[in-house]
Amino acid sequence: MKPNEKWIEEAKKNAAREAAKHLKDGFIVGLGSGSTAAYAIEEIGKRIEREGINVLGVPTSYQAFMLAVKNKIPITTLEEHPNPDLTIDGADQIDEHLNLIKGMGGALLKEKILAKASKELVIIADERKKVKTLGENNHPVPMEVIPFSVPLVIDNIKELGGKPVLRKGIKKVGPVITDNNNIIIDAKFGLIHDPEELENKLKVITGVVDVGIFSNIAKYVYIGKRSGVEKLVK
Ligand code: A5P
Repeated sequence: MKPNEKWIEEAKKNAAREAAKHLKDGFIVGLGSGSTAAYAIEEIGKRIEREGINVLGVPTSYQAFMLAVKNKIPITTLEEHPNPDLTIDGADQIDEHLNLIKGMGGALLKEKILAKASKELVIIADERKKVKTLGENNHPVPMEVIPFSVPLVIDNIKELGGKPVLRKGIKKVGPVITDNNNIIIDAKFGLIHDPEELENKLKVITGVVDVGIFSNIAKYVYIGKRSGVEKLVK
């Protein structure tokens, strides 16, 4: 880690610690994906060990599952617990109304399922993720797509004014294959002034399983800063 990146990891950890305070004895918790959510999973493990609280986790990805095992968080399923009390997850961009872009880690589908199923979605991020308007800095919207539908979805995205790119693997030739055996398309739309509208327009394209715009779901956001943590509430 470069010395000038140290504050970023500290900021993520501090946000994760605040989010983990939402956890109560007996809670079912959705376990988010990505490097910031990984700190929350660690923190949940610590609370279980320290306080002896009974908590069951529902992972949003293979990564979250492996981290839950490592941190000794007992696992459950949505079948057993369809409405988790809480999900703690990261985000790639957060606007001033707490709308999100997620999915740069390729885990957006289960993340959205858990976000929708849970009573409360708590988002954690470092301050680089906070923007005025989603899509700033040419940030793309990741979409999870059925492989057979890729050409159709690409055409439809272009018709909506987007610039779609098939996500390629790193250390693997060809496209990224998600935990659900689908493909990720990253589509740039410029500034997204109405996230809910774009989410709905993309979601109805045949072959799109889900979209990395999470409008109007997050209830709390903890932003880790160079000093301190900012709490945002919807
Ligand atoms: C995973 O698909 C994403 O939605 C992550 O939550 C998001 O990419 C944030 O990841 P980091 O915390 O690693 O930036």
